[in-house]
Amino acid sequence: MHLWRILGVSVALALSHLPSGAALAIQQGADYGLYKTSNLYNCSGTSLISNVTVQNSADTLPQIEPLSNAGWEQWDFFMHGTFPIIMRWSQGDQSDCDSAPDMGKIDVAILDVNGTDVRATLVGPLTYKNDAGVKSISIGGNTFHWDNSTLWYNLTLSVDGYSMVLNTYSAMLDTFHPNVGYYNGRLSSVGDPALFGSVPVTRGQSAGYLVTPDKQNITLDGLTVLKHMFSEKALPSYINKYSSAVVWGYSTGFYDSHVFFQIDENNGTVHEAVYLARAIQTPEAKTIFQSTYGIYAVTDDTALYHLTINEGLQTINATFPGCSAGNNISYGFNLTLAGVLGEFTDLGGGKTTYYALNGTTTAPYGGTIANGTVSGAFEVYQAPPSKQ
Ligand SMILES: *[C@@H]1O[C@H](CO)[C@@H](O)[C@H](O)[C@H]1NC(C)=O
Ligand SMILES: *[C@@H]1O[C@H](CO)[C@@H](O)[C@H](O)[C@H]1NC(C)=O
Ligand SMILES: *[C@@H]1O[C@H](CO)[C@@H](O)[C@H](O)[C@H]1NC(C)=O
Ligand SMILES: *[C@@H]1O[C@H](CO)[C@@H](O)[C@H](O)[C@H]1NC(C)=O
Ligand SMILES: *[C@@H]1O[C@H](CO)[C@@H](O)[C@H](O)[C@H]1NC(C)=O
Ligand SMILES: *[C@@H]1O[C@H](CO)[C@@H](O)[C@H](O)[C@H]1NC(C)=O
Ligand SMILES: *[C@@H]1O[C@H](CO)[C@@H](O)[C@H](O)[C@H]1NC(C)=O
Ligand SMILES: *[C@@H]1O[C@H](CO)[C@@H](O)[C@H](O)[C@H]1NC(C)=O
Ligand SMILES: *[C@@H]1O[C@H](CO)[C@@H](O)[C@H](O)[C@H]1NC(C)=O
Ligand SMILES: *[C@@H]1O[C@H](CO)[C@@H](O)[C@H](O)[C@H]1NC(C)=O
Ligand SMILES: *[C@@H]1O[C@H](CO)[C@@H](O)[C@H](O)[C@H]1NC(C)=O
Ligand SMILES: *[C@@H]1O[C@H](CO)[C@@H](O)[C@H](O)[C@H]1NC(C)=O
Repeated sequence: MHLWRILGVSVALALSHLPSGAALAIQQGADYGLYKTSNLYNCSGTSLISNVTVQNSADTLPQIEPLSNAGWEQWDFFMHGTFPIIMRWSQGDQSDCDSAPDMGKIDVAILDVNGTDVRATLVGPLTYKNDAGVKSISIGGNTFHWDNSTLWYNLTLSVDGYSMVLNTYSAMLDTFHPNVGYYNGRLSSVGDPALFGSVPVTRGQSAGYLVTPDKQNITLDGLTVLKHMFSEKALPSYINKYSSAVVWGYSTGFYDSHVFFQIDENNGTVHEAVYLARAIQTPEAKTIFQSTYGIYAVTDDTALYHLTINEGLQTINATFPGCSAGNNISYGFNLTLAGVLGEFTDLGGGKTTYYALNGTTTAPYGGTIANGTVSGAFEVYQAPPSKQ
């Protein structure tokens, strides 16, 4: 990889189909690690339905080869709605490099179900199906399945006497793959072992129900994001910390979705990969959109994205420059951390914390500057102290 960079971009392009040591442990058919393009969207949004940045519904399947016997992989499902719901499906662990798909885990946190926080972890063999039509990933009867058009992502879960059915459709019909150094899905400067990530569902609309142990049947609805991260080794030792967030507008005529990843490398290098998209609802129903489009999907472009995370003040501010289609009015987000939703510790002592986010957005709408309300979640992974 180093040599490619020294030789320059055109050589890297020519070499991109050769297997590297890193690419060999990734499932065939995945395009992670392949050399791609520049930033994916830059003031796009003139077309009604944007093309997915990566057309690959297999994105939601394990990318690490079953026999590779190393690495970890994690899908984060977060819903904001009737209840905040966090579900994490993983094989292996950021601190455990001897993972294999038969060591699967589902962490669940459903907050304040009539005064009770549901917290549980299921462990068992993780199985997956990659048929032409339907793909699925399961532990026992707990299954997450989706169709090959990447439209529906449906799950059934049964834990501690609670059972849940939650069907989610991908409103944006778009996925976001960061591309640090222009390598598809890559989140780190170093190529081997790399940290990879994507957002298979950037703005999902979920509906379903939760049946409690005392047989209440509670209707669920809300907004969902599905994130995916993996590495072929334990979390690379040159990474201390990463964070990511998703915020959604939900109460005005325009519904913006903003997702970011921020990766802190030990030597001070920071990578930022960000996505901004808009959905315009139909007058009849909030959950049906007459148009959806990606506006920005950029990685490491300080001319196009400014992010300030102040954990002391518990605020996050982000801006994107305006686009000519929106009268050059910029997009801004002022967010406040509003409480911890959940905390998970991995085998080596690394810690993931999920916070609720709320705040305001200003953006172009109907030719003028408009205000909106947003909320979502912020996630921080802190590597164990021994690594720092
Ligand atoms: C993206 O937009 C910025 C600002 O207009 C411009 O400077 C840059 O060249 C654009 N990049 C690409 C790849 O189109
Ligand atoms: C989507 O991609 C296809 C194939 O590359 C292209 O023909 C089509 O115009 C694109 N659609 C939009 C809305 O950009
Ligand atoms: C439990 O919460 C749900 C959703 O907020 C509500 O519809 C239901 O009435 C509550 N049940 C009880 C017994 O409080
Ligand atoms: C999706 O599934 C349908 C039904 O099984 C099949 O006909 C179609 O070829 C599949 N499409 C792709 C891209 O795999
Ligand atoms: C998911 O659920 C929706 C709504 O019930 C249904 O229309 C769709 O066919 C389901 N898809 C899959 C892959 O289960
Ligand atoms: C719960 O309600 C849904 C409809 O909202 C229904 O489809 C489902 O069968 C019910 N489940 C139970 C166990 O009552
Ligand atoms: C940090 O390390 C990465 C990977 O080795 C390298 O690309 C980057 O230039 C380094 N940054 C600094 C500030 O030394
Ligand atoms: C974000 O904006 C708010 C509101 O103006 C301000 O109070 C806060 O200090 C800003 N935070 C950061 C991290 O810039
Ligand atoms: C937006 O900015 C571009 C580039 O600076 C400029 O050419 C254009 O006239 C501006 N449009 C409006 C509506 O101000
Ligand atoms: C976000 O929530 C916190 C805590 O509930 C509250 O103090 C703050 O004012 C809210 N901020 C916005 C912008 O709504
Ligand atoms: C964020 O705060 C700054 C400073 O107070 C303000 O200028 C800006 O308009 C705010 N942006 C949003 C989206 O509320
Ligand atoms: C947006 O909110 C800010 C303060 O929160 C206010 O100064 C501004 O006038 C509002 N803009 C619109 C278009 O409502």
